[in-house]
This record gives sequence, C-alpha cells and structure tokens, in this order.
Amino acid sequence: MDLGYQGKVAGITGAASSKGIGFAIARQMLQEGASVFLCDLKQEAVDAAVKELSAYGTVRGYAADVSGGQAVAAMFDRAMADFGKIDVFVSNAGIYPQCALMDMTAAQWDTVMGVNLRSVFLCAQNAYRCMKGRGGVLINAASYAAVLASAGSGAYAASKSAVYSLTKTLAAELAPYNIRVNGFIPGVIATGMTQGVIEAKEDSLVSQIALRRLGEPDDVARAVAFLASDAAGYITGTFVEISGGKLCVQNPDYAYQNRGNSNG
Ligand SMILES: NC(=O)c1ccc[n+]([C@@H]2O[C@H](COP(=O)([O-])OP(=O)(O)OC[C@H]3O[C@@H](n4cnc5c(N)ncnc54)[C@H](O)[C@@H]3O)[C@@H](O)[C@H]2O)c1
Repeated sequence: MDLGYQGKVAGITGAASSKGIGFAIARQMLQEGASVFLCDLKQEAVDAAVKELSAYGTVRGYAADVSGGQAVAAMFDRAMADFGKIDVFVSNAGIYPQCALMDMTAAQWDTVMGVNLRSVFLCAQNAYRCMKGRGGVLINAASYAAVLASAGSGAYAASKSAVYSLTKTLAAELAPYNIRVNGFIPGVIATGMTQGVIEAKEDSLVSQIALRRLGEPDDVARAVAFLASDAAGYITGTFVEISGGKLCVQNPDYAYQNRGNSNG
C-alpha cells in the first residue's frame, strides 16, 4: 500500500536514540518518502541521528527540551523555516522513572509531567499554528501504563493516562481544522527505556504477551506510519495498541499450556 508520504514533512520528538521508537518512526517515514525533522535533548545525539538517517532521505535535527515552551516554539519555527510546512507531528519523547509514589519528590513528579504530558500540549498548540488552513496529523505516545498502571511507576502511568485523555480532546477540538489526532500504546518494546526492566524480568514480561515476544521499535514505527498516513483518513481520537496482545486475557499462558489438548 502506498501510504502517500512523498512530499510530506513529518516531525518526531525524542528521536535521537538509534535503538528507540522515535528513531524507528523517523526512519520508517523517510523510507516512505517523507522529509523529516527530529528533536532530542542533546545536540551531539541529534547530529549523530541526522547523520545516520540521512542515508534514507532529507532530515534535519534540532536540540530541544520538549517540556519547555520556548524550546518547543523555536523547534517549530526552525522546521517551518527549513521546510515551509508540517504535515505530521509525532510527540514521542518520554521518560520512565522507576520510583514508588511515596518516595517521589514533587520536583520529580513535575519533571515526569513536563516531559510526558506538558510537551504533548505544547507541541499540539505549535503544530496547530503551523497546520491550520492546510490540515495535518498529530500522533501522541501513550503507554500500556495508561490502560493498566503498575506499582513503582505511578507518575509515568498518570502522565500517560492524561495523554490518552488529552489526545481525545485534541481530536475533537482540531477536527474542524482537518487535523486528525491519534495515539499509540506500545506494550513492552525493547529500547533503552526498557532495557533494565527487561534484563530484570524478561521471562515474566513475555509470559504476559499472547504472541510470546517483546516488541521491536519497527513494530511500532510501521503502525504509526499507517496511523499518520492518508490511508487512515477516517481515524481520529483513537489509539492503536502495539503490544503483541499483552494481557489481552488475564492468562495468555493458558493457550500455550493447553496447545494440542483442545477437542475443538
Ligand atoms: N519502550 C517501551 O516499551 C514503551 C512502552 C510504552 C510507552 N513507550 C513510550 O514510547 C515513547 C518512546 O519510548 P522509547 O522506548 O523509544 O524510549 P527511549 O528512552 O529509547 O527514547 C526516548 C527519547 O526521548 C528523549 N527525551 C527524553 N526527555 C526529553 C526531553 N525533555 N526533550 C526531548 N527529548 C527527550 C530521550 O533522549 C530519548 O532519545 C515514550 O513516550 C515512551 O514513554 C515506550
């Protein structure tokens, strides 16, 4: 299927880590024919990602902390100066601190909310000013934690639940401007963010997944590329879960333990 990315301009936040979901989305959209701009915290990492991704097409990178209003506005201004328009914007940057709520300081809480939630609001406002009149697509990273929270990462789960809600409101408020807004819910994807958790309990994580494997960043990137494309033109205000069927039932193990025993 031609997803129609030729001539389009797509922006992705938190896309400098070559093992991360944002980088995979940037590469996928470049391969589909889009021009891409990306941001991340450190200029050095941004430059390295741009160098690697240049093999796939036209790409620019800007260092920006997505939780800051001025930095986000400057990133959009630079993208408009470089490309003249923005068709797709993916709010992907996020942090996943492991900390029980009773041990967390208010400053740590604010940091999680700033990077995971405030950024989505700031990017949506800036994307709107660039897209209104032409239309466009916003995609926001939520998490399985928005569906089912876990002890030890309560602030993260709260921020992602709020992204879930925010995405739905944005979809309604931006629909008159022909701007679609959707999100994605990764399950457990093998990236820098999840490396520690996977090392600590990979077997237990995989046992919760119907397809019995961890996800790869490209699994997410392909789904996001579809969601942001014209092929998904009637989809707004919703989320695609890319989790291999994580806890799609309480006991995904059952099907494996009873394989071959069914009389059906
Ligand atoms: N990996 C998973 O299993 C998983 C599961 C659920 C949700 N997610 C979500 O998917 C998104 C991508 O996750 P990932 O696994 O690729 O993570 P990652 O840690 O590999 O990449 C996140 C990127 O965001 C950047 N970043 C962090 N703070 C930033 C800031 N203030 N400004 C700009 N950039 C910043 C980091 O430098 C990094 O490059 C995140 O929103 C995450 O919460 C991931």
